[in-house]
Amino acid sequence: MNLLLHNLLGNKPKGFGLEIEDSYIKAFQLKGSKSGFLMVSGNLRPLRKGIIQDGQVVQVEELAKEIKELLKSSRPKPIKSKFVVFSVPETKSFIRTIQIPKMSREEAGEAVKWETEANIPVSLDKVYLDWQTIDSNEKNNDVLVVAVPKEVVDGYCRAVFLSGLIPLAVEVDIIATIRSLTSEENNKEPILIADIGADKTSLAICKNKIPYFSSSIPLCGKTFTDALQKGLGISYGKAEELKEKYGLGKMKKDDMLYNIYNPLVENLAVEIDRSINFYSESINVQEKVERVVLSGGGSLLRELADYLSLRLGKEVVVGDPEIGLGTNKDKAINIARDLSPFSTSIGLAMRGLDYEN
Ligand SMILES: Nc1ncnc2c1ncn2[C@@H]1O[C@H](COP(=O)(O)OP(=O)(O)O)[C@@H](O)[C@H]1O
Ligand SMILES: [Mg+2]
Repeated sequence: MNLLLHNLLGNKPKGFGLEIEDSYIKAFQLKGSKSGFLMVSGNLRPLRKGIIQDGQVVQVEELAKEIKELLKSSRPKPIKSKFVVFSVPETKSFIRTIQIPKMSREEAGEAVKWETEANIPVSLDKVYLDWQTIDSNEKNNDVLVVAVPKEVVDGYCRAVFLSGLIPLAVEVDIIATIRSLTSEENNKEPILIADIGADKTSLAICKNKIPYFSSSIPLCGKTFTDALQKGLGISYGKAEELKEKYGLGKMKKDDMLYNIYNPLVENLAVEIDRSINFYSESINVQEKVERVVLSGGGSLLRELADYLSLRLGKEVVVGDPEIGLGTNKDKAINIARDLSPFSTSIGLAMRGLDYEN
């Protein structure tokens, strides 16, 4: 969704990406250069409970304040750009691929509306809708459609404006994640991306950088901390600390950590399998998904990728947002030791750079 306000202001925007989720907000600024992208600055900031609930902004003013603080605290220097591309959560969005007959662009717009109306559980006048043709043959066009309830977008938008920023575009988080984690070359075959955040895990299957399937499941980073807290009878903070330090451990049967974590990893594996089967049976029939890419803070859980790989019988790796950026590793060190939690905000910042030209 484009909110091209900068034209009115006659200003050349320098965009940055802002991921807004229930538990964290994250900013990332990039600069375009001849050889690709340069990382300029970024940071993340936890949000108090209640500011955003289940993907919807509850306390607009509080969120605006937090955004300002985030920009001030960004490393190695504060983000001063006024223009931003921000995200809304997959849980609140509808991403669909539909097929329409070949026709003029105007007629296609109408056809997309009809087809989308039949495909989403919300009436069309209550959503912002965006679409693009992704493939075509002699008779038909395949179209990617994204719809997000106005009520949801407007809440985020109010907070962004109130923080003094001007939105260039709004994007569904998982679409931005796909942009930073994939390249033309490495996505010729379909892959499944699992973005394991604090409050949800979004699953997407993409090919040629286009999402053909997406959904979110409640199993997430917090689920692992909760299980550890209950299993060991310790505080949430201590559990979070242990989780980050030890990860899954050795995952040997009857081991304490195994008993706590195995049902969760098993659940995640089942959901990944289910999505992959759905893709092969209903979306691109016969196409196999052999690679799984993990993202988000939850992907940093030690041993998770290896264990999932064993369980799924597929290649499972922790995604690297620099694949989409095409830059080299050392430059990130000023901003974060590990970029996985920033995959989405980096993808948003890449979109922001489009507006600089
Ligand atoms: N080193 C780590 N090991 C395990 N989990 C981690 C690690 N670092 C962060 N996490 C988890 O990642 C989650 C946050 O993921 P993130 O992608 O930043 O969230 P969101 O996108 O929902 O804001 C939290 O549950 C946190 O515990
Ligand atoms: Mg996220």
